[in-house]
Amino acid sequence: MQQLKGLILSGGRGTRLRPITHTSAKQLVPVANKPVLFYGIEAMAQAGIDEVGIIIAPETGGEIRAAAGDGSRFGVKLTYIVQDRPAGLAHAVLTAEEFLGESPFVMYLGDNLLQGGIGDLVDAFREHSPDALILLTPVPDPEHYGVAELRDGAVVHLVEKPSAPQTDLALVGVYMFTPVVHVAARAIEPSARGELEITDAIQHLVDQGRRVEPHIVQGWWKDTGRLEDMLAANRLVLDTIAGHVEGELVQSQVDGRVVIEAGARLERCAVRGPAIIGAGARLVDCYVGPYTAIGEDCEISNAEVEHSILLARSVVRDLDGRMESSLLGRNVKVGRAHRQPRAFRFLVGDNSEIGIL
Ligand code: DAU
Repeated sequence: MQQLKGLILSGGRGTRLRPITHTSAKQLVPVANKPVLFYGIEAMAQAGIDEVGIIIAPETGGEIRAAAGDGSRFGVKLTYIVQDRPAGLAHAVLTAEEFLGESPFVMYLGDNLLQGGIGDLVDAFREHSPDALILLTPVPDPEHYGVAELRDGAVVHLVEKPSAPQTDLALVGVYMFTPVVHVAARAIEPSARGELEITDAIQHLVDQGRRVEPHIVQGWWKDTGRLEDMLAANRLVLDTIAGHVEGELVQSQVDGRVVIEAGARLERCAVRGPAIIGAGARLVDCYVGPYTAIGEDCEISNAEVEHSILLARSVVRDLDGRMESSLLGRNVKVGRAHRQPRAFRFLVGDNSEIGIL
């Protein structure tokens, strides 16, 4: 088989992660302090794919380019492809047609995380030479995904976000295609949500008698589109980290697998892993509980934080109760004001959520 190329989809709008995605691409939201997108690029590199196209939106593309660069640090060559509007995953494929040429390719949704990489799948694709290979996994809420019905192990029917799913097998956001997918993407019409759906393009391949090979995912998989999925992805990745301390601990205690990056300083703190504290963070008199990722240059004092993600430069001070299951964007400040009258005072952007005990 010809050399495989990679295509990572990092366009789209990210509406379900607002307000974080008002100002930033959802693919750059960190999981265990690393942007989700980087896991996809690394999976490509590990599978020996060295030419990777990244679909970007005009609004957030600059930020993605700045973060991932030319790809040399991942050992791949990145080519950025602007999709003028989020018209669907199959539209993204058509947008990348010139880059892909006649190559077979792996398509990876930039907000997806797949445990164990894609090496085995790439091998199966090379070995069996199907027209397309899709990944499936049983989920409790198939109505939120594309689903595929199988009969005798063969894919017979695919539907995008069905209201009455006939199967619990969801399409995972990693696909392998031969160039016939371009013909299929051109043959389909936009769906009810106005998008050219990759699910419909794959159905078209099935209808044309093409061979679409299904693979059931063995490890875990996460689409990080919603807050609870981000927290779950963070838990899953933190569960795999090896602890190491590069930062400075002053009268502080660290239990379990904890990463403390260089330049972070903890004073009179207790950290219970798995957790990661980013470079340059300053923590004083606080407790950090399991499944927490504290971003670069955050400041936490006199507070307890658990099962949460804090993006760079956020500040948490003087909390009475423990903060948990939270996602703070960049430069967010949460704290107690020592002035009268005693009251809650908020300055909160659109689509934010605040829960108070
Ligand atoms: O996560 C798996 C699911 O991903 C599949 O089960 C569905 O069949 C598939 O349609 C897709 O559903 P979503 O509604 O979750 O896709 P989303 O709009 O979140 O887009 C997925 C990624 O692709 C995301 O990183 C944004 C990017 N994207 C999306 C669109 C619509 C683009 O780059 N261009 C686009 O036009």
